[in-house]
Amino acid sequence: MEIVNIIKTKRDGKENNSAQLKFLVDGAVDGTIKDYQLSAWLMASFINGLSVDETTELTRLFAHSGDILDLSSVNGIKVDKHSTGGVGDKVTLVLAPLVASAGVVVAKISGRGLGHTGGTVDKLESIPNFRTTMDIAEFLDQLKKIGVAVIGQTQNITPADKIFYALRDVTATVDNIPLITASILSKKIASGADVVLLDIKYGSGAFMKTFEDAKKLSETLVSVGKKLGKSIITAISDMDQPLGSAIGHSLEVIEAIHTLQGKGPADLTKICLKFGAILVYQAKKTKTLDEAENILKRNIKEGKAIAKFREFVKAQGGDDSIIEDPSIMPKAEHKIEILSKESGFITRVDALGVAETAKMLGAGREKKEDTIDLGVGIEIKLKRGQKVNKGDLLAIVHANSLKNIQKILKTIEGAFEFGSTQPEPQMLIREVIN
Ligand code: URA
Repeated sequence: MEIVNIIKTKRDGKENNSAQLKFLVDGAVDGTIKDYQLSAWLMASFINGLSVDETTELTRLFAHSGDILDLSSVNGIKVDKHSTGGVGDKVTLVLAPLVASAGVVVAKISGRGLGHTGGTVDKLESIPNFRTTMDIAEFLDQLKKIGVAVIGQTQNITPADKIFYALRDVTATVDNIPLITASILSKKIASGADVVLLDIKYGSGAFMKTFEDAKKLSETLVSVGKKLGKSIITAISDMDQPLGSAIGHSLEVIEAIHTLQGKGPADLTKICLKFGAILVYQAKKTKTLDEAENILKRNIKEGKAIAKFREFVKAQGGDDSIIEDPSIMPKAEHKIEILSKESGFITRVDALGVAETAKMLGAGREKKEDTIDLGVGIEIKLKRGQKVNKGDLLAIVHANSLKNIQKILKTIEGAFEFGSTQPEPQMLIREVIN
């Protein structure tokens, strides 16, 4: 078999068969197929698409390119949630301990930020001494002891996806439904949870820009999951404006703590309660979703949710005194207030503009190897639909360097759009498909 023929088949808009896809994935992992050939195949697939059969086979090959975790030694139904990526999306930081506080085991393998989206692993690393790597035996042990563990992708979970994903990021082939399906679903199959909730974001800060594309992605994930025996729940949620108020690593951990203490922003609290209820209900802890949501609300109120967060941070070596004193986390030297030059209503806070600002401040990576600044970020003080007067505080920029600051301030100012009438409210969670 020759790689050139496999690429040619895709280039000409035809289907690759299972043997060809196996040759491609095996060759990527053992290094016999070169990056430039994989990149050519990716671009041909991006342009001409992959059929459901091809997507299913690619997903299966990615999943089996490394270890498949066996969580059967941990009692109970194990749950997992994964987002397609957003701006200010710190849901996992809240959801994992919150759901675990209701006695449901949350086994989560998270990623780092890439492109304009943030990653849970990076956020957790702003907690002093927090360990995001552990071997599988330790991971299982922690799940048995405290019912929650969140770690980064280990060396041997879906190595094929790692290779393809890194190439997609630098060849403009990320935002493609079959390729995203294979990437996300393979990781969910390999990480072994019984119940998987996929949060598909749409809007300017997401890979899927429209609801229609998010819906197509959702349907593909569900149908390919079904073919591979993995039951998937998908939620389609808004990412046209950032989630919550904080964008940036330490800032997002602080906001997650506030949310677990019942003092978080309304949108973040709502999405965590709704997703949490789905997971608790699917784990068969309650008879209805409402009952599940009420348990979670009570756990926040009675301090069980934040207590589980403390246990989780301590179990992974982190300094739990951040709960009382967040100032021990990395923080920025300068805080710059952005005041409104307009009066009326905020009609939009463009998530992509906010993400670009965060990246310019040093919170994001250009390349995988780049180091990031965990202390910088933005606090958004007014969001879509809120009334604003000239001089009101729109945002606070947390910066460590004043180099390029004028350009940075201009970018964040440009993310806010104003109008004289209040915009229609936009649904936070538009659809849940089980
Ligand atoms: N997240 C992933 O893990 N893979 C993608 O392709 C996109 C988002």
